[in-house]
Amino acid sequence: MKTIRTKEALSALSREWHAAGETVALVPTMGYLHEGHLSLVRLARKKASRVVVSVFVNPTQFGPNEDFEKYPRDEEHDFALLRAEGADAVFAPAPSEMYAADATVSVVESSLSKTMCGAFRPIHFSGVLTVVLKLFNASRCDVAVFGEKDAQQLSVIRRMVRDLDVPVEIVGAPLVREPDGLARSSRNVYLSAAERQRALSLHEGLDAAEAAWRAGDDSAAHAIATVRNALEGKADKVDYVVAVDPVSLAPVERLVPGTLLAVAAHFGSTRLIDNHFLRGSGRNA
Ligand code: PAF
Repeated sequence: MKTIRTKEALSALSREWHAAGETVALVPTMGYLHEGHLSLVRLARKKASRVVVSVFVNPTQFGPNEDFEKYPRDEEHDFALLRAEGADAVFAPAPSEMYAADATVSVVESSLSKTMCGAFRPIHFSGVLTVVLKLFNASRCDVAVFGEKDAQQLSVIRRMVRDLDVPVEIVGAPLVREPDGLARSSRNVYLSAAERQRALSLHEGLDAAEAAWRAGDDSAAHAIATVRNALEGKADKVDYVVAVDPVSLAPVERLVPGTLLAVAAHFGSTRLIDNHFLRGSGRNA
């Protein structure tokens, strides 16, 4: 596995691969890798002959009072996991390599990114889109793989690719859970044992809402109430619970296959997100 620190070296490697008739898949990450990230790498492997994983804690997607400084980092461990997974290259640039000190251009999405997490993290998606586009440009990737855990991020990236004619195929990969049902997240390390126990209410609420839908209740309001009930007394603060169309992120009244049920809530000082795309069999599926 090659370790690459500069955009120029990454572009050169990608050009070399393309000249040899190969295709390139990119898996953008912020590191502190877990099984969820590794599932993205495996999917990327199926989509292209070369796999590049970026490991970059992107400062521009964190708000002033967010966890940029304390975001967990462990480069050596990340690289070992990626080597074992058979990644062809890891791109781990310094912030100064990614951003000119006097940079003045960024990517702004003005609709999908304003709801859900965007309503609580106003600069977040602009930071994400800007770094993702820069990573696409540096890696010259054909395909990029993102987790459905960050469902809104995936929708916003798909919209950028559509609206700016970005020549990259976007692939979504299913959310991966811990054995107890908690969605895998690098931020889970912040949770105390008690907070982690309470955070299980996220997936319990989503499971209960999905079960009710399968049993025939297609009311979005009922599904939202079910998730909120599960969080009652467990979450310290609920940012949102929504049932939305997965492409437009517009709220729906009736649940249908594909509807995105999504939640963001705080447990102690940790903010977690979780979601279900309604799928599978059942009376309403
Ligand atoms: O999902 C993430 O880890 C980040 O938002 C991403 C896509 C790597 C951009 O920094």
